[in-house]
Amino acid sequence: MSTFSAPRGTYDLIPPDSADFLAVREAMAAPLRRAGYGYIETPGFEQVELFSRGVGESTDIVTKEMYTLTTKGGDRLALRPEGTASVLRAALEANLHRGALPVKLWYSGSYYRYERPQAGRYRHFSQVGAEVLGAEDPALDAELIILAADAYASLGLTGVRLLLNSLGDRECRPGYRTALQDFLRGLDLDEDTRRRIEVNPLRVLDDKREAVQRQLTGAPLMRDHLCEACKEYHEQVRELLTGAGITFEDDPKLVRGLDYYTRTTFEFVHDGLGSQSAVGGGGRYDGLSEMIGGPALPAVGWALGVDRTVLALRAEKIAPDLPRGTEVFAVPLGEDARRALFALVTELRRAGVAADFAYGGKGMKNGMKSADRSGARFALVAGERDLAEGTVQLKDLASGEQSPVGLGALVGTLLAALRPEPS
Ligand code: HAM
Repeated sequence: MSTFSAPRGTYDLIPPDSADFLAVREAMAAPLRRAGYGYIETPGFEQVELFSRGVGESTDIVTKEMYTLTTKGGDRLALRPEGTASVLRAALEANLHRGALPVKLWYSGSYYRYERPQAGRYRHFSQVGAEVLGAEDPALDAELIILAADAYASLGLTGVRLLLNSLGDRECRPGYRTALQDFLRGLDLDEDTRRRIEVNPLRVLDDKREAVQRQLTGAPLMRDHLCEACKEYHEQVRELLTGAGITFEDDPKLVRGLDYYTRTTFEFVHDGLGSQSAVGGGGRYDGLSEMIGGPALPAVGWALGVDRTVLALRAEKIAPDLPRGTEVFAVPLGEDARRALFALVTELRRAGVAADFAYGGKGMKNGMKSADRSGARFALVAGERDLAEGTVQLKDLASGEQSPVGLGALVGTLLAALRPEPS
């Protein structure tokens, strides 16, 4: 233990657990690559204004949760609390919207929110995200939802539920907002919530307190105020999802914690996670480009939480398929064998075999202990006599069987044993 520990609300990814995180990231990225999404990476910090204008001045993320700093040069920056505003900023800056549309992008990275830490809620967390810019087509909303559902399914998760809603557009939302405000103003609410009615009334629907929820029965719902175009659009998204075998629950009170959403909004939740149950979420954000000074550019996207998806795997007791661990472990006896086996380990790795070595001049006993601990299937052991005969001893660590193999035949023998041709 050093004098220092990980900052509050953060944790380190350490082997062997860290392998689950890699497996989750890969499972989320694979369907995106197959669907033509290109990888994008943006800086870990941006101008504060990008998020305050993009995510919304009145959101918790902007008012309470951003890590902001002023640089020595006087720039006001924020560690990114989410990816959508950054990805859109980068795409506009690179003029991607002037090329072939839609532009499909995916990303993976760290995000920062100064939230009250608890199980599943961290100040530093990981997302894999996808954004599609420049097209208004219900098939894109459906495609994204299907890709996320496929990612969860490919991990073997069965407890993920999809909640779906439409938040309307600039045609129908203002009328709904007024109707909701009129309703909310008649309720018995505290000062803070009354203020929220004026700035961001939809967020009141999301209030978790029982005393508030009880009064919300009978609140006007967006779905009863959607204009014809939004209604038709949403119906198409629902039909496409049903056609693809995706089960969803209509949740007319689903509002997200970010202000940029229009029309389709959705959240993936897992019931094994306690109060931080959202494992991913997203939606359409047709107005965001203009909000950050760009041209009109319809868009839709999602971000899936890597940390919470790992927790969901643990809740369902699933061990994801992990990248190959050590397959072969070499234990040299003596200086000449050290050189010969080091060269063999390098050759094996180049041939695609996961191989490791007893470093630090261990003797036979400690070397074999390390081999067992590594989880390898085979140990390679060689001493002076083996080398003089041009062989190494190949030991199957499960059965204990051992036999000499000629140096020249070793890579082939191991490949045949580790990767048998399907018959
Ligand atoms: P979000 O709902 O704020 O959306 O975050 C997406 C996911 O990130 C959440 O469902 C959750 O799994 C994870 N997450 C968020 N905050 C934390 C935290 N403090 N600790 C652990 N995990 C967390 C967005 O970020 C939008 N940018 C999604 C989007 C993309 N919408 C359109 N395009």
